[in-house]
Amino acid sequence: MNNLPVVSVQNINKSFRQNENNMLEVLRDITLEISSNEIVALIGHSGCGKTTLLRIICGFEKQDSGLVLLDGEKHTIPSKNALMLFQNFNQLLPWKTVLGNIVHPLLATKIVPIKDEAKKRALKLILDVGLNGFEKSYPHQLSGGMKQRVAVARALALQPRILLMDEPFAALDNITRGVLQKLTRHVCEKYGIAALLVTHSVEEASVMADKVVVMGKNPGYIKAVLNNDLKDASLEKQTRFTAEALGFLG
Ligand SMILES: Nc1ncnc2c1ncn2[C@@H]1O[C@H](COP(=O)(O)OP(=O)(O)OP(=O)(O)O)[C@@H](O)[C@H]1O
Ligand SMILES: [Mg+2]
Repeated sequence: MNNLPVVSVQNINKSFRQNENNMLEVLRDITLEISSNEIVALIGHSGCGKTTLLRIICGFEKQDSGLVLLDGEKHTIPSKNALMLFQNFNQLLPWKTVLGNIVHPLLATKIVPIKDEAKKRALKLILDVGLNGFEKSYPHQLSGGMKQRVAVARALALQPRILLMDEPFAALDNITRGVLQKLTRHVCEKYGIAALLVTHSVEEASVMADKVVVMGKNPGYIKAVLNNDLKDASLEKQTRFTAEALGFLG
């Protein structure tokens, strides 16, 4: 049995230059682990460095010090093993159909180099996210929620080791959001893909995640790691309590 975490973030520090004289310290000594099949939610004040941390894990941004390990190996440049899903709905290629949007990266990256096989895999994912019947539709013919379903299917078709999601459902209505939360959790579980989810919603964190990491601010640091081990308090209660105590809820 291999107990190596999928992602291990070790003592990450990051500052941005604000102007000639000033640096802004954004992340201080961030350490966290994500196991295979685990969905971890990351919550914290606006501006505490959540997106920056995701971008560092993805390889879009470089940390000043510390390490990101993916399956035990240094991860420093973007790769198909750590894919990011964003909040906005314009992540799809407008000139390609739903099917084309999922097939294209499979062929372009040569992850599935044969067109028929790429199509087969894409159609399976389209079914998983409930978009059967819309294979030939173009992005402009889809609702926001449907576009996010395509983005989820496209990312998961590439079978990353981890899916990094930055408030992916924040712009959706309540009902669509609830459906997509459950569906994304389900397909991640089905394909054994770990996930790190940034959210401002305690409810979303507790619906989707096995573990909630709470960040403090100025600079961003890990304030608490909450999980379902405590029998006397649900993950939702613990998360709500911590978020209220830190003042980023109600
Ligand atoms: N490329 C950059 N250059 C300079 N400063 C940056 C850069 N990226 C982020 N920052 C600053 O780093 C801090 C953290 O930003 P970040 O986007 O990571 O926060 P966040 O926790 O995702 O916030 P939100 O919840 O509002 O999305 C902010 O003060 C932001 O202005
Ligand atoms: Mg952000």
